[in-house]
Amino acid sequence: MCGIVAYIGKQEAFPILTKGLQRLEYRGYDSAGIALRNGQGEFEMFKKKGKVADLLAHVNGKKLTANMGIGHTRWATHGPPNDVNAHPHFSGNNRLVMVHNGIIENYEALKVALEEAGHTFQSDTDTEVLVHLIEELQKRENLPLEEAVRIALSKVVGAYAIVIMDREDPDKLVGARKGSPLLVGIGDGEFFFASDGTPIVEHTRRVVYLDDEQIAVVTRDGNLQIKTIENEQLSPFVEQLDLQIESIEKDGYDYFMLKEIHEQPHTVADAMRGRINAKEGWIRLGGVEEYTNRLLQANRYIMVACGTSWHAAMLGEYLFEELARIPVEVEYASEFRYRNPILTEKDVVLGLSQSGETADTLAALQLAKERGALLYGIVNVVGSSIARLTNAGSYIHAGPEIGVASTKAFTGQVVLLTLMAMSIGYKKGTISKSYFHRLLSALEEIPAKMESLLSQCEEQVRYIAAEMKNATNALYLGRGYNFPIALEGALKLKEISYIHAEGYPAAEMKHGPIALIDKNMPVIVIATNKSAYEKIVSNIQEVKAREGRIIAVVTEGDKTISPLADYTIEIPETEEVLTPLLSVIPLQLLSYHIAVMRNCNVDQPRNLAKSVTVE
Ligand code: AGP
Ligand code: GLU
Repeated sequence: MCGIVAYIGKQEAFPILTKGLQRLEYRGYDSAGIALRNGQGEFEMFKKKGKVADLLAHVNGKKLTANMGIGHTRWATHGPPNDVNAHPHFSGNNRLVMVHNGIIENYEALKVALEEAGHTFQSDTDTEVLVHLIEELQKRENLPLEEAVRIALSKVVGAYAIVIMDREDPDKLVGARKGSPLLVGIGDGEFFFASDGTPIVEHTRRVVYLDDEQIAVVTRDGNLQIKTIENEQLSPFVEQLDLQIESIEKDGYDYFMLKEIHEQPHTVADAMRGRINAKEGWIRLGGVEEYTNRLLQANRYIMVACGTSWHAAMLGEYLFEELARIPVEVEYASEFRYRNPILTEKDVVLGLSQSGETADTLAALQLAKERGALLYGIVNVVGSSIARLTNAGSYIHAGPEIGVASTKAFTGQVVLLTLMAMSIGYKKGTISKSYFHRLLSALEEIPAKMESLLSQCEEQVRYIAAEMKNATNALYLGRGYNFPIALEGALKLKEISYIHAEGYPAAEMKHGPIALIDKNMPVIVIATNKSAYEKIVSNIQEVKAREGRIIAVVTEGDKTISPLADYTIEIPETEEVLTPLLSVIPLQLLSYHIAVMRNCNVDQPRNLAKSVTVE
């Protein structure tokens, strides 16, 4: 996912913009650029394919004095990543300069009309068409910048977060959003625009999260105006940015991913903070309390998500069906949104997303909203588009997840799903009071068990990683609650070490994958089940009989599987429904250490972005 940062005020803009872009790098991108309006009233623009470091090398120490500017990290959708297609983009008359996140879906039609009006284009991007459209409207009707922006955006189909400067209106920045995040930072005599809080947190914590189809106009004299595309004036709702600066630094870890794996005892505790009390025996989720009736009377729950969040949704199915006895369907958001699904107001559609900006998940939820379903979001990024679209929801409070491979957000999602299923099950009477209390106590012990697991298993995991690092394939097997964990472990390995891996229900192995087993195939078996334990032991014996190399994740003290496996990783005992919160951790660490041993870019794996905000 790309990023935007912009500044107008009394400070030098260049360091604010470039450091801001470095803070946004975690979102994944392929090129970067800035434009400054210098003291002579001229625009100076620098943009390059590659990293922010390449952009800085390109600027090459030039003395840049300006107190107003815009910056951008691009994740290409229209036009390959190259210097010309990088943002910012000029209007045809070089009077306007703009950055954009998102996709202008009707850009071709707009481009044809603009070319007929004499416009020529330098790049292949949809973005450049938009800035020319704004120019055309401004010229034709002699409009102030914000009015030209407003009318242009009313003609646009698609998603955007934009910030634009007008050389002839030097004391103003205009920003707008629809489908891509944008916030306004309010400083002392200065303003910022940014895709999230990370580029501005040391400058201000006072922010306004723009909603879809809202335009913000900020001026050097300290004025902030917000209006809708329909020209309705809105009073800014100023919020406090909840972000700790150290939470976006590595804290001595080699990679953000390792830091975030080790943060999980804290982030899981934060996900439960203020929401459960084992002693008094309650769970309180705001969203559930507000919509209790519809949540209890729903015909079914449909969970829509992508990637790791989809694996969390798979766990949600097991949790809700067992604890709340509610039928659950788990859908890939990208399939659901195009399938013309049957939905009624008796359905609850639950959207899971770390970023809250994944285009397919957002679109699936929008479709569900149009058809009257109740939308519930389980999201990490505060103020994100999915968080704003849903009727209710629960933030997982995992803090910024910088590594592209999701770890702490996954366990945060699983905690919230568990709390929701327990809360609704208890209200429905589908779980007994004693079991409810037992689960609450077990939940409260999870952070400490995670802590001890992390301190005890990493050396063994590193040893196994060294044994596995040259594998070309791997098979992950699990049953019941551990089947989604097998899927998640396989995805982790694939996305950061580039080793092909598949997750399978253990019993399915004999329906095909067993043909793959030989001494070169590592088979990771998550075998912590109490139910179906004998079955998973049989699966392990089937693999062993075919010389497969077995890495078993077992409950500490297991005496049956350890003699069968080539390598064993023990996890603490807990309630079966909570096992995934622990069994996933060795798999996260295993993929991390293998990726490091293979010299992969762990935090920013090739071809991947932290959030896929385009289809
Ligand atoms: C997971 O490690 C990947 N980064 C990816 O599959 C991710 O889970 C997916 O793109 C969904 O992102 P979201 O949770 O932000 O919606
Ligand atoms: N669609 C625009 C482009 O391809 C913006 C992509 C982005 O969001 O970075 O340049």
